[in-house]
Amino acid sequence: MKRIYSILKHHFLKILISLLLSFILLSLLEFPLSNIIIVLILISIISIALLISLDYFRVQQIVKIRETIRDIRHNKLVSPGQINLGTDLESTEREIKKMFNKMDNDISNLKKLEKVRTQFLGNVSHELRTPIFAIQGYLETLVSGAINDPDVNMKFLKKAYTHTNNLNNLLNDLIDISMIESGEMKMNYGYYEIVPFLEKIIHEFSDIGREKGIEIRLRASDNKIKYYCDKDKLRQVMVNLISNSIKYTEKGLVEVLLSDEEKFGIITVSDSGIGIPEKDIDRIFERFYRVDKDRSRAVGGTGLGLAIVKHIVTAHGSKVMVESKLGKGSTFSFKLKKQILT
Ligand SMILES: Nc1ncnc2c1ncn2[C@@H]1O[C@H](COP(=O)(O)OP(=O)(O)OP(=O)(O)O)[C@@H](O)[C@H]1O
Ligand SMILES: [Mg+2]
Repeated sequence: MKRIYSILKHHFLKILISLLLSFILLSLLEFPLSNIIIVLILISIISIALLISLDYFRVQQIVKIRETIRDIRHNKLVSPGQINLGTDLESTEREIKKMFNKMDNDISNLKKLEKVRTQFLGNVSHELRTPIFAIQGYLETLVSGAINDPDVNMKFLKKAYTHTNNLNNLLNDLIDISMIESGEMKMNYGYYEIVPFLEKIIHEFSDIGREKGIEIRLRASDNKIKYYCDKDKLRQVMVNLISNSIKYTEKGLVEVLLSDEEKFGIITVSDSGIGIPEKDIDRIFERFYRVDKDRSRAVGGTGLGLAIVKHIVTAHGSKVMVESKLGKGSTFSFKLKKQILT
């Protein structure tokens, strides 16, 4: 009864208008009044019956949708293929399937993120443990008497000092990574003369290079060219790439090359070092990824350098390209917008 009352309330005006129109039409056709009343009563009954059956049909559809949503919520439906609302609700079914897929993707992304976070924490603790254990070991040995042994005391102190440096580098890299990934990295762009900037960085590496028998050189055709970049961040990129080239080259050449395209300049860092196996090339930009963990650790690497490089170059709207041949050397390059002089 409540339902019928609600239908009448909702459709009262429509029924009234149709009755009025029917009355006018029948009067114009000069139907006798008694017949008009009968016809109007019939029209009223038929329209109410129609409205009630339509309403019943609509309620059935709503119940179907509600039950489907409840089944999704209770995980009774595990794939979009199980959602079936029938042909009359095809578009609603499509929308619910899309929502199901989105929810499914969101949940698997959250699970992936959770896994990445746990892995990251595991990696961080592992990497911190290595230098801390080493420092602890050397100090313990020194405290237990080795401090008075002139054969080892300086050696152990120097080793402990090297590990504190590694620890410091690791913490700095971690701070950078977390700043970058939380979106707190503020970029400060401008046009800068690239050649003197690179010459200065290369000069800082010249001693380390010389010690290893590696020549580091810069090749550029235009000394006055300006690149659009964040100078400090680009410095970080160059330091990481050049130090990798030196670290992973036994002897030979590390070259920084500047080449020009119409609107862009390309910075390339290439070396004649150990190279990177093809299967690892796609992964070297992942945090903590090292081709040869022991070798990298021996040269003080934690596998964060290229992750930072990738983030910074991406922030410049560019992409790092890598080419490498095992035993022959590696080439890292990326484009930067250059100043166009008119
Ligand atoms: N020029 C290169 N030649 C050969 N292998 C390289 C070169 N650059 C990077 N790699 C490989 O890629 C890995 C990742 O490099 P990345 O700079 O991220 O880490 P890392 O040098 O080991 O440590 P970090 O830079 O954090 O001190 C390195 O461990 C190394 O195996
Ligand atoms: Mg590195």
